[in-house]
Amino acid sequence: MKAVILAGGTGTRLRPLTKLLNKHMLPVGRLPMICYGLNSLRAAGITDILLVTGPDALGDFASFLGGGREYGVSLTYRVQEEAGGIAQALELARPFVGEDGKFVVLLGDNLFEEPLKPHLDAFRAQADGAMVLLKRVPDPERYGVPVFDEAGRIAHIDEKPAAPRTDSCVTGIYMYDGTVFDLIKQQTPSQRGELEITDVNNAYAAKGKLDYRHLSGWWTDAGTFGSLLEASHKLMGDAP
Ligand code: DAU
Repeated sequence: MKAVILAGGTGTRLRPLTKLLNKHMLPVGRLPMICYGLNSLRAAGITDILLVTGPDALGDFASFLGGGREYGVSLTYRVQEEAGGIAQALELARPFVGEDGKFVVLLGDNLFEEPLKPHLDAFRAQADGAMVLLKRVPDPERYGVPVFDEAGRIAHIDEKPAAPRTDSCVTGIYMYDGTVFDLIKQQTPSQRGELEITDVNNAYAAKGKLDYRHLSGWWTDAGTFGSLLEASHKLMGDAP
């Protein structure tokens, strides 16, 4: 299975730290943020990885990570010319992934404590469709929030709802079959002008093809000052 790490975007919530440096190059503990995603994927047996980032950051990533040998992975790069949303960045992965295989997408600012392999194996066993990983959080309004039907399936995901209907959120790891690229093509920009990954996931949910599992370990999206600091404390011991 191949993987795509999305490491573009503008990092506005972390200004001025991100004025010159891409968010995913900021230090978390003793490593740049991007290294944790690479390590999590490699530990799950995934080594063929596409990294999508913006034009200003590409040189930094290439200088720092090269082809990925030091991290035991093989890296391919693609440039997202303008930050037009997570789904827009993902669309750039179409030639890398192809349309036949299943693959995994990791948002580069999401940090996971537990091994991803059991979740990826569960998705491999799933006939088709998509899978998301959920986590109970105290502040679901910051995230995509699932709404369940009577059978316990995800009926819909609300993106950053003012009044969340559950205390779970959709974390930034998405597993898709090859139909995702056609679903992205059907999306239109949201009110904030972005192609939203939540709309893509809702297209799967509408077809009854969005499965989910729960994360049991610590997880964070390190996209704010508070969560970046929390991640640094948590992961300080994870590097030599
Ligand atoms: O962290 C999980 C959350 O991530 C989900 O719960 C939300 O449903 C999902 O929309 C997303 O929300 P955020 O507002 O946190 O997304 P953000 O704009 O911070 O982007 C997340 C990652 O995607 C970040 O690592 C950079 C990358 N990205 C983002 C955009 C907008 C790109 O590569 N290109 C882009 O254009």
